[in-house]
Amino acid sequence: MGMLILNGSKSQSLGEKIAIGLGLNFENVSTRKFPDGETYVRIDTDVKGRDVIIVQTMFPDQNDALMEFLLIADTLKDMEVNSIIGVVPYLAYGRQDRKFQPGESLSMKTVAELMKAVGVNKLITVDTHYQHVKPGKFNFFGIPCVNVSAGKILLEHIKGGIGPDLMTIGPDFGSSEMIKYATGEEMVLKKEKKCPICGLPATQCKCKIKKKKYEITEVESKYNFSGKNVVILDDIIASGGTMIKAVKKIKSEGAKKVIATATHGLFMKDSLIQLKELTDYLVVTDTISTPVSNVSVAPLIVEALRTS
Ligand code: R5P
Repeated sequence: MGMLILNGSKSQSLGEKIAIGLGLNFENVSTRKFPDGETYVRIDTDVKGRDVIIVQTMFPDQNDALMEFLLIADTLKDMEVNSIIGVVPYLAYGRQDRKFQPGESLSMKTVAELMKAVGVNKLITVDTHYQHVKPGKFNFFGIPCVNVSAGKILLEHIKGGIGPDLMTIGPDFGSSEMIKYATGEEMVLKKEKKCPICGLPATQCKCKIKKKKYEITEVESKYNFSGKNVVILDDIIASGGTMIKAVKKIKSEGAKKVIATATHGLFMKDSLIQLKELTDYLVVTDTISTPVSNVSVAPLIVEALRTS
């Protein structure tokens, strides 16, 4: 018996596309909730000695999604599979990848340690925020990991609809690796941070307050957007604050069309509505299922599984 794909409850549609791309059998794992909210998982396939791929993204409800992934992997380990590959298109806790202040949890490391403990041999993810790693292979706290980037396929999709004449920019420094990989250039906007006490830019302030306390007031740009079709590309739209500020700035500088795009659309609060109203086009991938997930990362994941 060959390799098998098991989809967690968060990635059934994407998992099916990946299975079709690889020509493999797939199954959706039986999962449900106990009345008190705890997760139940059952695998009723013969998996002994097989190589199994678990497809499970980690949003919405990051903790539930992670717990379900861990229960599936640990059950597979108990059932004596040969190997486990985790395909986690959106890897939750990627933003708590450093201790920003003493005493904070290094959440990303905890997630990796848990995955190791339940027998995950390899991980495939998409545009992880973890340390802004470049696309390609990296060591995820001891687990061999491949990070694929959706920047190029998002831009191809947009070019197909809007036309080839596009200027692509990142909304802040955090997107620079992704922009560089997608376009070969490193064009990003700069956030200007001001001190909430003296009102001076962070670079001139003498109040010596904690870095995180500076307020982002302005988006700076040295580029000319006038009359251009501008694509703003990022890894994540979470609260939407970063993208909304960038869209407003670029529109105010006379761009013809403004397109907002990102790999992962978390769209907290009303940011999806706001961004749809503010932009000429808004698109994200299906690492997380949203009403604007019009680009699939399945071919990228299939390629990574085939070649890594
Ligand atoms: C920052 O480094 C990231 O690339 C994103 O720009 C950021 O995480 C987006 O977050 P939000 O939507 O909450 O502004």
